[in-house]
Amino acid sequence: MNLVRFRWILQWVILGLFVIGSSEAAFRHVFRTSAQDGFAKRNRQLASAQKYDPNYKGQFQLDTSSITFSDGILSGILQKQVPGNMEEILFPFTISFLKDGSTRFQLDEKRRLEGNVDYDGAKIRKDRFDVAQYHDLGSRIHIDTEHPEVTTHNKKLLKVDYGNNQQFSMVLHFQPFMIEFLRDGNVEVVLNQRQLLNMEHYRPRSERSQKDESLGMWEEKFDNILDSKPRGPESLGLDISFIGYKHVYGVPEHTSSLSLKETNNSETGYTDPYRLYNVDIFEYEVDSPMSQYGAIPFMQAHKVNSDVGIFWSNAAATWIDIEKDASSTSTHWYSESGKMDVFIYLGPTALDVYEAYSGLTGRTQLPPLFSIGYHQCRWNYFSEEDVQTVDNTFNEVDMPYDAIWLDIDYTSGRRYFTWDEATFPHPQETLKKLDSNGRKMVVILDPHIKNDPNYFVSKDLLENDFTVKDSSGVDNYNAECWPGDSIWVDFFNMEGQQWWGDLYSYDRFKGSDKNLFIWNDMNEPSVFKGPETSMHRDAIHHGGWEHRDVHNIYGHECINSTYKGLIKRDHGELRPFILTRSFFAGTNTLAASWIGDTLSTWEHFRGSLATVLTNGVAGMPFSGADVAGFFGNPDPELFVRWYELGIFYPFFRAHAHIDTKRREPWLYGEPYTSMVRNLLGIRYRLLPTWYTTFRTTHMTGLPILRPQFLVHPADELGFDIDDQFYLGDSGLLVKPVLEPGVSETAVYIADDETYYDFYDFDEMKGKGKHVVPASLGRIPILLRGGNILITRERIRRASELTINDPYTLYIAVSGKTGSASGELYMDDGTSFEYEKGAYISRKFTFNDGVLDVFDTHPHPQSGVRYAESMKHLKVERIKLIGDNHQKIKIHKHGMSGVKSWDVKVNTDGVVQKPNLYLV
Ligand code: GLC
Repeated sequence: MNLVRFRWILQWVILGLFVIGSSEAAFRHVFRTSAQDGFAKRNRQLASAQKYDPNYKGQFQLDTSSITFSDGILSGILQKQVPGNMEEILFPFTISFLKDGSTRFQLDEKRRLEGNVDYDGAKIRKDRFDVAQYHDLGSRIHIDTEHPEVTTHNKKLLKVDYGNNQQFSMVLHFQPFMIEFLRDGNVEVVLNQRQLLNMEHYRPRSERSQKDESLGMWEEKFDNILDSKPRGPESLGLDISFIGYKHVYGVPEHTSSLSLKETNNSETGYTDPYRLYNVDIFEYEVDSPMSQYGAIPFMQAHKVNSDVGIFWSNAAATWIDIEKDASSTSTHWYSESGKMDVFIYLGPTALDVYEAYSGLTGRTQLPPLFSIGYHQCRWNYFSEEDVQTVDNTFNEVDMPYDAIWLDIDYTSGRRYFTWDEATFPHPQETLKKLDSNGRKMVVILDPHIKNDPNYFVSKDLLENDFTVKDSSGVDNYNAECWPGDSIWVDFFNMEGQQWWGDLYSYDRFKGSDKNLFIWNDMNEPSVFKGPETSMHRDAIHHGGWEHRDVHNIYGHECINSTYKGLIKRDHGELRPFILTRSFFAGTNTLAASWIGDTLSTWEHFRGSLATVLTNGVAGMPFSGADVAGFFGNPDPELFVRWYELGIFYPFFRAHAHIDTKRREPWLYGEPYTSMVRNLLGIRYRLLPTWYTTFRTTHMTGLPILRPQFLVHPADELGFDIDDQFYLGDSGLLVKPVLEPGVSETAVYIADDETYYDFYDFDEMKGKGKHVVPASLGRIPILLRGGNILITRERIRRASELTINDPYTLYIAVSGKTGSASGELYMDDGTSFEYEKGAYISRKFTFNDGVLDVFDTHPHPQSGVRYAESMKHLKVERIKLIGDNHQKIKIHKHGMSGVKSWDVKVNTDGVVQKPNLYLV
């Protein structure tokens, strides 16, 4: 074992001993609190001055003569008052009204915009980093030049009505400067209500004063590591209030509650703000606002039948304070650097918010079908024989799985894009063997590169100069990671991105093949012994950006480059599958994510659910946690319970640390093996429903797992529920067991609809809690009346082998109307042909004993060829639930009219062979 790894593991093991069994992780001291992050301290000081100093005044004055409005954009200039400084410091701002009904507030300093500042020859940019420009959001931003209209303009305020029906208004108050957003005349969101607007202006280094030192303005030390801050202070902050909203959600990634907690209250919440700063935080604290691996600065607020949202487009370290009063929530956002760029969404529905937000940052990819099956991983499968044995055993024990994963030790000495010749001498043969069962392999490739002149990737990287640089801007950024001495790929260099992408081509990554997919880990980026386990903030990227400007988007750019590489590898014919640990807004268009290095404890298990739900709400829905926890050895009960929940993680993968005991799903023996087999069976039976749900998410931005507040937006009792959820629009309500030692649990029903037990169809009705059986191996699942659930009941070795199999319909009728409906989407599961219409889309409705089947393809002609090739697809069985018809009629609607026929229902409510072909 190499020395670096040994030391690293030893550190984990020793520290881990303190952690297990305690919610206060031993690693806290490695990560900053807000009081240890200079810019956070400065912005928080403003907030307490505003609260406690009766003379507090905001720092900005609006120059009312500067206001102009034309072509959907309002512009103006703010002047900053700096005590003792007579100079006029100007900050131009714009408020843009967009076609999707959202609004955008942008602010920057005039001098910087004009490049009129001096950094004494340092190799850094003079302007502030602009995520939207870099992230290419520009092409998705469309200004509405038609609807917005100034309806009032007097000495005190200016009002613009906007939106397709002029249902929204923006009121700009001049003194003090404040912006209100109204829907149908009601104030919903307010910017700068508390006058916390802050943008630290450019100052030459010569102005550096004694007082600045304690506030970390010009340099700062943490954990004995110096951050040189060549640009001095340049943080930005703003308070954003949600009027009438007691619940806000989002801003992952944290292991907290779904409904976010207050950050100024140790009784009901936290004393530190939620933090967005991507870090490698293994064995993290549960129930904490501390940063984890991903960062999405998107927040949603919900009240009865009303949703609004905010996107704070910034990739630097960011903190968010949350305060609540009896009816509203006020948030305070501050980032270390960058432009101010805020998008405001006024709903009114959650769907409206998600559609607009994901229209901007990108909709979740429609992943290849195999990737929503079950993944078998551990650190490490050590040889081809090991892989073969695991693969064969799945067949022997009759369990399905879709992909086997290799962690860092399949490589030759942690040199990515190579194979250890002793243990993996024939990777292509292994891949072929997997392929014969429709299975895949996923291998890990991290963005740190072993610094070794004889290693082709390292050599190439150095020769091309695509590395991140240290604070000198000249020398390579050098530090330790898994391979020991390492250098990092600079994904902010577009040529570097392409170079990395090209490494995935079959001729460069020897031994790879079409059924090999990619896991990019450690891309926060993780740097052993780096500040907060990551890169120095004063490291320099291509174009002169400091790492501090781009930190939260580094992982995203890594994935962007991998994605493009895989597209190129397969000539655009195959959908890539990538797993990423780090993410930013928009990474959902490219990859799935998992929540990192959990402990195999009940606490971490419980915490995983709210984390995955939150990721979904904030636009990273293809997410999951290591089953059954990364560190440690779960007892059989936790092991099985974790599989119970795992089958409902959108991304479902078993994974474990190298020091854990082997735990492939059959190793716990009976009765546990059979329990896990049944659970895997449920996941695979439901694949048509999962795939249809992914399609809905891909089209709308709606989460895959829907928390209670989304499905029952008027039921206040459900707004903070985060221990049960619905699967998409399927009507499946899942209540996992998250505690040891129980055999039943209470599920909350929010409406007066009939719900049916998934296993025995027992009926449940009535708003409130219902106790349901939950013996080990049986995760409570209810099917809400009014839904038609679509399954494939034959379990095969892998998902790909099921695509010609017949379907079963479970028609669970509404206790109120006796009717039900459901939808099915399917395509080839691998290519991009669906973008050209090659898919099947059906709606089933059931009413008064009649089952109608509609073709819902919006352009049926474009789907004809594919549909013709799927003529054999049929429904083999229909099960009526809550309905007593002895005979039903089927109406199949097609391009050439309606075909009808009768089918007999047997005494169990089942129609066998209804002769219903989908095409
Ligand atoms: C990180 C990952 C973990 C992986 C390990 C070795 O800790 O989070 O999943 O197994 O690195 O690559």
